Amino acid sequence: MSTPPLEERNTQVPKHFMLARRAAAVGLAGAAVVGLQTTVAQASPRPDPRIEIVGGTPAKQGEFPFMVRLSVGCGGSLYTKDIVLTAAHCFDRSGPNTGITVTAGAVDLQDPAAIKVKSTKVLRAPGYDGNGKDWALVKLAKPITNLPTLKIADTTAYDKGRFTIAGWGHTREGGQAQRYLRKAEVPFVDDATCKKPYPELIPSEEICAGFMDTGGVDTCQQDSGGPMFRKDNANAWIQVGVVSWGKGCARPGYPGLYTEVSHFAADIKKAAATF
Ligand code: ARG
Repeated sequence: MSTPPLEERNTQVPKHFMLARRAAAVGLAGAAVVGLQTTVAQASPRPDPRIEIVGGTPAKQGEFPFMVRLSVGCGGSLYTKDIVLTAAHCFDRSGPNTGITVTAGAVDLQDPAAIKVKSTKVLRAPGYDGNGKDWALVKLAKPITNLPTLKIADTTAYDKGRFTIAGWGHTREGGQAQRYLRKAEVPFVDDATCKKPYPELIPSEEICAGFMDTGGVDTCQQDSGGPMFRKDNANAWIQVGVVSWGKGCARPGYPGLYTEVSHFAADIKKAAATF
C-alpha cells in the first residue's frame, strides 16, 4: 500500500495529534493510549456551547447501544452481533488481527460493566487506497448478543437532513480523547457546496455534514470509524455515514467528511457474508 502524504487534507493540528485518514494504525493506537490515560475535561471558565465530539453533549447510557470503541483509537458500530463497521484508515492492512479490543455497551469506557471483546480479523474495503472507500469490517471473537445492531442505509433516501454523530474523540482540534461518549447533530451539506473547500471530495463515495457558516460542531480525531446516523421513516436509527476526515475540526467553511454508507451497502453486505 502506498500512502501519499496528504495530511493537509485533514488537519493543521500538531503532528502527534494528526490522525489523518491516511494515518497508520500505529499512530492511532499511540494516540489512543495517551487519550485514554488522560481524560481531562475540556471545560473552560466560560464554555462556548459550540466548542465542546466538538460542540456536543454527553450521550446517555443506552442511548446509542450500537456504538463501540476500538482500542486502535477509533469508533465503530455493530453491523451484526459479531461484525463492527468502522473506517479503513484505522488499520494498516486487512487480515487476521487478534490485537484489537472492542468496548461496547457503555458510554463510560472505564465502566466495569462494559463488554470487551477481542477481534479476530480486519477487512478493509476492497481496493482501499486512501481515497474514498473508507470503510472496514472487524470480526469479533464472539458475538455480542445483548446489544442491538445499527442498520445501514442501502439507498440514498436518507442521505439528507440532520444527522447524529457520536464518539469518544477530541472535543476540539488538538484536544484529547474522551472517557465518556459524546454526541451532536450536524446538517447535511450537499456535494456542490462541499466541493468548494474540498476539491478532492469523491461525491459518490463521501457525504459531508456540518455547519458551513459557523462551524462549531463536528467529529474530530479518534471519532473516525464511528457512525453518522439518523431516524428512518419507521423512526429507527439508520447509519448513513462513517466518520472519515476533515480539515481540522469544526472550522467554519470545512464540514466533516463521511463515507457514504448507502453507496457501499451492497459491498459491505457481501464482505460481511464471506467474513
Ligand atoms: N480522521 C479522523 C480520525 O482518525 C476523523 C476526523 C474527522 N474530522 C472532521 N473534521 N470531521 O479520527
